[in-house]
Amino acid sequence: MALLAWDESLETRIPHIDEQHRGLVKLINDLDQSLQEGTAGLLVSNVLQELMRYVKDHFEDEEQFMLRHAFPDLPAHRREHDLFVTRLKDIHANFLDGDALSSNILDFLKGWLVHHIRGTDQVYVAFINGTPGG
Ligand SMILES: [Fe+2]
Repeated sequence: MALLAWDESLETRIPHIDEQHRGLVKLINDLDQSLQEGTAGLLVSNVLQELMRYVKDHFEDEEQFMLRHAFPDLPAHRREHDLFVTRLKDIHANFLDGDALSSNILDFLKGWLVHHIRGTDQVYVAFINGTPGG
C-alpha cells in the first residue's frame, strides 16, 4: 500500500482535530517508511511508541471535545478508540517480542485511520455542526 495521502475526504474542518489527524497520518507514514527502508528495530520501536502517545493524546482530546458538545454516541466512539489503543499495544508488544512489522500491520493502521476519520469521526462532526454554537 502506498503512503497515506491526505485528501479532502479526511477533513473535519475543525482546525485542531484536522491538525491532529494530519499528525497521525504523518506518523503512520513514518512507520511505513521505516518498514520499507528496513530501519533498525530500536527506531521502529520509538516511532511506534510515539504513535501510541500521539494516538492517546488525540483520542483524549477528541473525547473531551465530544463531551463538551454533549455528543450522545460518545460511549460507542470511545469503544472504537479503546480497541485501537489495545491493538496498538499488542502490535508494539509483538514487535518487542521479535515479530517483524509487516505490511499487513501497516495496511491495518492506515485502513483503520481512514475508515475511522471518514466514518465515525464525521458522525460527531455532523452532530456538532448541527447544534447551536457548534
Ligand atoms: Fe475518533
